[in-house]
Amino acid sequence: MSFPVYSEPETWHGIEPADFEVKIRGLKREYTFFHLTDLHMCEFTPDELSEMPEERRTYELQRRDFFTHAWPGAAALWSNYIDCAKAAGADLLLLTGDIIDCPSDANVKVLKDGVRETDIPALYVVGNHDWSFADDYHTPNATAMHRPKFADICNGDPNISWVEYEDLIICAVDDSRHRVFRETADQFLALFEKKKPIILILHVPLYVASMETDCFASWHQLLMMGEKAFYGDDPQVKRFYEAVALAPDTPVKAVITGHLHFHHEDILPNGVPQIVTDKGYTGGCRVIRVVKE
Ligand SMILES: [Fe+2]
Repeated sequence: MSFPVYSEPETWHGIEPADFEVKIRGLKREYTFFHLTDLHMCEFTPDELSEMPEERRTYELQRRDFFTHAWPGAAALWSNYIDCAKAAGADLLLLTGDIIDCPSDANVKVLKDGVRETDIPALYVVGNHDWSFADDYHTPNATAMHRPKFADICNGDPNISWVEYEDLIICAVDDSRHRVFRETADQFLALFEKKKPIILILHVPLYVASMETDCFASWHQLLMMGEKAFYGDDPQVKRFYEAVALAPDTPVKAVITGHLHFHHEDILPNGVPQIVTDKGYTGGCRVIRVVKE
């Protein structure tokens, strides 16, 4: 698989958090979450660059040139985002994937150090780029070699993890392959038994007709999951989509996603809001306030 090496750099515009409010009936307290997605860090040690096959090195250096052309550097950028999250009073960082552009040793270290060293807890869901090099994209080798590296920042399991408060659950479900698998869907649906409202974080947004135009304009395809987009006929995706986006009695109160590199706020067919947040590499991020209805 090869991804485009962009020729027109997008402009860094400074960290400008959008905002969004989720209203939930019966909450005992209010919450603030800081959402960061698609930072696409491209860090490499000199050794790993020199040991890469030439084709991979050329490709990765082109990606780095594109994603970092206007950055102050990944580490400084990360700390700027954390300062912004602190200023917002964030209870939790929602990190919805592609924070790194490939699983280089340096990227994984910067990411893990960044998550560990901040005093704001974080919930991470992997993106499609996080755990694969483009020339080994989502292969069994990538699954075996790289996905396990994310376990410790995904509370033990890159497939699904959650943070549970007294009156709210924030759940991260991996849909980085534009699909969910049976065991993950089972685990997610079992959370409904807790009878708490759920905020779901994904990398890839769920299909919603009103995002088709924007999605096509940016990507020339429907980079969403379910229905008319990816894996709409897959039984597990159908089951997941039905439970989140169609069921009128779903406990899901909001879906927070990235992947598309633009801001978008929408409503799924059953009335649940779905929020897409703009790419971190140009300064996009979002503050999400969860308030009592
Ligand atoms: Fe992505």
